[in-house]
Amino acid sequence: MKFYLDSAIVDEIRYALDMWNIDGVTSNPRHVRNSGKPFLVAIRDIAELFKGTNKPISVEVNPHYTTADEMVAEAVKLAAMSPNFVIKIPATEAGFKACWTLTDKGIRVNLTLVFSASQALQAARMGAAFVSPFVGWKEANGEEASQLVSEIVRIYRNYEYKTEIIVAAVRNARQIVEAAMAGADIVTAALDTYKDAFDHPYTAKGLKLFADNWDATPYK
Ligand code: E4P
Repeated sequence: MKFYLDSAIVDEIRYALDMWNIDGVTSNPRHVRNSGKPFLVAIRDIAELFKGTNKPISVEVNPHYTTADEMVAEAVKLAAMSPNFVIKIPATEAGFKACWTLTDKGIRVNLTLVFSASQALQAARMGAAFVSPFVGWKEANGEEASQLVSEIVRIYRNYEYKTEIIVAAVRNARQIVEAAMAGADIVTAALDTYKDAFDHPYTAKGLKLFADNWDATPYK
């Protein structure tokens, strides 16, 4: 399973690369705003970190765009900036059409803001390289989300779609494990979510216990 970092902050991405060999990055307009940089500067800085690798960086088109033509025009410009860029397009009617057009041009699309298996199915039909079901948002809305991921995995296997499933807006270790159990390809989460998920209080407690016993035992 691959782990992507959901962030546009260079220091966080550098940390995730150095410590965990993170497999890619996903960003959205909120992350770019949090970076404190203009959009083009923020995404260029991320691209620089991944130069020479084949790790994907998802960058989102202007969310005000409502037509496929607008989305395609911006996506073409963004894709030309870095071979690592995958273009995030919303799962709207215009977005699905833009996805199809971009896929035809050889530009990889990450269909984002996906909340149903039928949206994910349409994303695959339109040739999306990635699909991003937002499990954290679904659960925050009181909806079941792990079943959604299992359904998408099953549908993609039934029809041998190559679209990779990025389980997105992941907030905790349980959601990471559920995504892996369901057979999703990728999870994307914030730096602190991974830090928490890779930690367990009993690891530190056990280490202290062993260190105390080590200190109380002669070495030779
Ligand atoms: C994923 O690709 C999205 O950027 C992300 O998970 C959206 O959710 P968040 O910004 O609320 O984490």
